[in-house]
Amino acid sequence: MSIIKVENVHKTFGSGDRAVKVLQGVDFTVEKGETLCILGGSGGGKSTLLKVMIGAHDATEGHVFIDGDDIVGMREKDLNKVRRKFGVLFQSGALLNSMTVGQNVGLPIGFHTKQAAETIDIMVKVKLEQVGLLDAKDRLPAEISGGMQKRAGLARAVALDPKIVFYDEPSAGLDPIATAVIDELINDFKTKMGMTNVVVTHVMESVRRIADKIVMLDKGKVILYGTLDDLLNSTDPKIVNFVNGEIDGQGGDDEAQRRFVSDLLM
Ligand SMILES: Nc1ncnc2c1ncn2[C@@H]1O[C@H](COP(=O)(O)OP(=O)(O)O)[C@@H](O)[C@H]1O
Ligand SMILES: [Mg+2]
Repeated sequence: MSIIKVENVHKTFGSGDRAVKVLQGVDFTVEKGETLCILGGSGGGKSTLLKVMIGAHDATEGHVFIDGDDIVGMREKDLNKVRRKFGVLFQSGALLNSMTVGQNVGLPIGFHTKQAAETIDIMVKVKLEQVGLLDAKDRLPAEISGGMQKRAGLARAVALDPKIVFYDEPSAGLDPIATAVIDELINDFKTKMGMTNVVVTHVMESVRRIADKIVMLDKGKVILYGTLDDLLNSTDPKIVNFVNGEIDGQGGDDEAQRRFVSDLLM
């Protein structure tokens, strides 16, 4: 059984004259222990797809099976049980500024489990060690670099050893070195801990480093679903442009990012 199955997913915002069809019949599966990259130009529906996959948005039509359970239309109570199986890395890192790095990483542990404070503290230290941030445990997010903030967000996303980790543009705003560090951690989660990664990105270098499978979206439809080799060997002009880095990558994502954070609140 595939750990994730996305079946004929449609997502339309608004209705009537103002309806915007953002996803139009998206199908793919993700196998346990692989990294799937979701690619495409800005506004192509990548973040929307990710939000549907984590149950932050309901699909207008179709199904999303996570470890066998269809989360489309699922009640919040049941959804929270499924959410326990995955971690999410926000585009901005989205750490709470008033809390220390350690407290931020401990948030989901406190939310999902009844562990004692001392146990949470140990779990937090293990995760911070894993991402090379143990020394930053008692610092505030504003006191550490963007790359470190991102790693702290990553430690928080995997705090409960999830089966699946979802990432939206994990290297947005990072330099190539910090990006490579994040990619290495994403690969570590897969190879050392058997996690399944679903990564929205437009950084071709990252795709080459981390992707086992690729879903490329264009105007809400899948224009490529295959391996890294399939992507690199494609002759479709849109895909060739992407591989050559000639695509409108970032920009216009700030609003989507704010919504993403407010949608999740965890
Ligand atoms: N909550 C929303 N309400 C209305 N339109 C939205 C909403 N979220 C996203 N959209 C629209 O859906 C389209 C795809 O957005 P998004 O999924 O953020 O694309 P990407 O992440 O690929 O840049 C954009 O046209 C965007 O304006
Ligand atoms: Mg986006």
